[in-house]
Amino acid sequence: MSQQAPDQAHADKLVIHNLVPADLQSSFAEDLRAGLSASPKHLFPKYFYDELGSQLFEAICLLPEYYLTRAENEILTSYADEIVSEVSAEKVSLLEMGSGSALKTRLIIEALLKRQEQLLYTPVDISATALEQSSRVLLQSYPNLRINAYASDYYDGIRALQEQPRGRTLALFLGSNIGNFDHEEAHTFLHALRGVLKKDDALLLGVDLRKDAKILEDAYDDALGVTAAFNLNLLTRINREFEADFNLRAFRHQVFYNEELGRVEVYIVSKQTQTVSIPRLEMEIRFAENERIHTENSYKYDQTGLSQLASATGYTRTRTWLDEREQFSSNLFIATGEG
Ligand code: AVI
Repeated sequence: MSQQAPDQAHADKLVIHNLVPADLQSSFAEDLRAGLSASPKHLFPKYFYDELGSQLFEAICLLPEYYLTRAENEILTSYADEIVSEVSAEKVSLLEMGSGSALKTRLIIEALLKRQEQLLYTPVDISATALEQSSRVLLQSYPNLRINAYASDYYDGIRALQEQPRGRTLALFLGSNIGNFDHEEAHTFLHALRGVLKKDDALLLGVDLRKDAKILEDAYDDALGVTAAFNLNLLTRINREFEADFNLRAFRHQVFYNEELGRVEVYIVSKQTQTVSIPRLEMEIRFAENERIHTENSYKYDQTGLSQLASATGYTRTRTWLDEREQFSSNLFIATGEG
């Protein structure tokens, strides 16, 4: 584990623990081999986020069709004071899983700093660069903030957090990131996070809601084609990192709202019969016309599903705030006695 204070100006206020394993590439190779040999073919959405993929995701958040980010922002802008006042303690420490650019976090930080003089913020994110950049900006804005950041995947981060002494904690998991887990993974993750919280600590969970199929499909298949580019960029990444020869023009983006399962399904579809070679994996992949690679699910919840999610993982859902159009939800889960 390496520790660093990247910027002398904030040396006494910022620690970044880098827990990202050096052999990340080999797990990508294994997942690629398994996912492209399987039937049906599939790849994990975590591989979307190379440098260009992360920037395309930021662009998605600005699209008129992708209402999620705006709706959550609206909720936090209107209710941040009310949300933090639900966490009963004089001094609260803030934890965030998958903090990214931490833009929405500012609203919660500001609400907390109205109630207490100092704040310890513990962001966990797979990207050390994102942590460094967002931390620097936050420390410039808030002189009374201290940051103890973990560059790691969620589970290594959770393991490390077990060693960190914190007072009353408000944890954040925003942006409907929970939606990219299937139900079993969502349970495993929330239960693991519950393990680092004490009874009466709080989790603010941002979750997208079930709604009309057209609105959902448009949100994941925008007119400008940014989400298509975000999806197909996965093939560009494989071309670059594994010397593959995917011809991007021979594939297309496809989205389907599976109402029964309550999830938007995202695919890359082969427009024709073709063979792609991946020399670094010593693989040749055959595609039939219209054969698909399943690249992402984005689960949507309803009120009953949210309460069940809370009670099955050691929390009670005590409050839920919605945006005006009632498209998105911010849920306060309070940790119960049974972890
Ligand atoms: C990051 N995650 C919550 C996004 C979502 O809505 O599932 C990822 C995304 N994929 C396509 N558009 C946005």
